[in-house]
Amino acid sequence: MKCFNIAFFASHGGSNMQAVLESVNQGRLCSKPALLISNNSESGAIQKAKKYGLPYFHISSLTHPIENERTALIISLLEKYEIDLICLAGYMKLLPKEVIDKVNGQVLNIHPALLPAFGGNGMYGMKVHEAVINSKEKTSGATIHAVNNEYDKGKILLKESVEVSEYDTPQSLADKILTVEHIIYSKAIRMLEQEIISF
Ligand code: GRF
Repeated sequence: MKCFNIAFFASHGGSNMQAVLESVNQGRLCSKPALLISNNSESGAIQKAKKYGLPYFHISSLTHPIENERTALIISLLEKYEIDLICLAGYMKLLPKEVIDKVNGQVLNIHPALLPAFGGNGMYGMKVHEAVINSKEKTSGATIHAVNNEYDKGKILLKESVEVSEYDTPQSLADKILTVEHIIYSKAIRMLEQEIISF
């Protein structure tokens, strides 16, 4: 069994992070959430980190305008907290290569569609669900994948489908998929812990 020290990176609500924190609290994961990095000081993710007593850091181009300094700070936090798994959960920035290398490429992301379809630069949030509905897809879902330096292009580790009904709107589809996301993020971490899947 591998137990990781997890750093979350999130820009918005942080509901996926919360789902993993709950799995840890319920004893379903041996990994340890160690910190949150958010580029948005007003993110729900920071509020949730406060609630769960998770150390959090606001690091953005506002707090650290020089990119090298921003990256160096992130790397120093990864060292300090001995991070060996990064979980992106609605993080709207590309991670610098040095950050990915620092954890030997052990970086996960969750995407609200069945990759490789409906992914890539510009495919985020409601745009994904609008595109799925406009293409008249019968299924969509969520994907956990490894992160490299291209949007949504790393190795696919776990997918879960949902049915798209003719009555679905982008919002109803987003809601349906978010429920699945909250299950599969922890499931993927557990499968990594048990070495059922690997980077
Ligand atoms: C999720 O839909 C996730 O797939 C995408 O961003 C959204 C984040 O939601 N990458 P939350 O911040 O975890 O609530």
